[in-house]
Amino acid sequence: MTLKERCTVFSFDDLGDERGKLVVVEGGQTIPFDIRRVFYIYGSDSTVVRGQHANRESEFVLINVAGKSKVRITDCSEEFVVDLDRPMIGVYIPKMVWKDMYDFSPDSVLLVLASTHYDGAEYIRDFDQYRQIMSARESKSDVKE
Ligand code: TYD
Repeated sequence: MTLKERCTVFSFDDLGDERGKLVVVEGGQTIPFDIRRVFYIYGSDSTVVRGQHANRESEFVLINVAGKSKVRITDCSEEFVVDLDRPMIGVYIPKMVWKDMYDFSPDSVLLVLASTHYDGAEYIRDFDQYRQIMSARESKSDVKE
């Protein structure tokens, strides 16, 4: 499976009516993990790059519930960008995938659903280290083939 195929972009149902919009995201149902943690990022301007890490243990779903941002996703073999520009769009980020969030609009509120409680030790924040880990993994899987 390609990285792009693994990082599902969800288009959540809009259950809105004449009173306004309603979007539901259910852990283990709409998205592929039970939600243990929720955080949101706002007040980042268009010059800021956030994220810049991969996680050994955590899976995430990113949703811009207000405003817009972009997320660049890579595993060092593939790279692509997802525009988070609607409140019903979410992108799934599996374990060991590098992400950079950027291009925040002034009104951006980026909601992040996570499969784990916070543990700073499972973050890889050095891209060179990440690249080395991924290339070691790749050579291991080449040997198996
Ligand atoms: P950081 O991981 O740099 O944020 P982002 O990935 O969104 O750019 O986190 C910023 C700070 O907040 C850092 O000191 C760690 C802390 N933090 C927690 O304590 N718990 C959390 O769940 C998260 C995401 C961050």
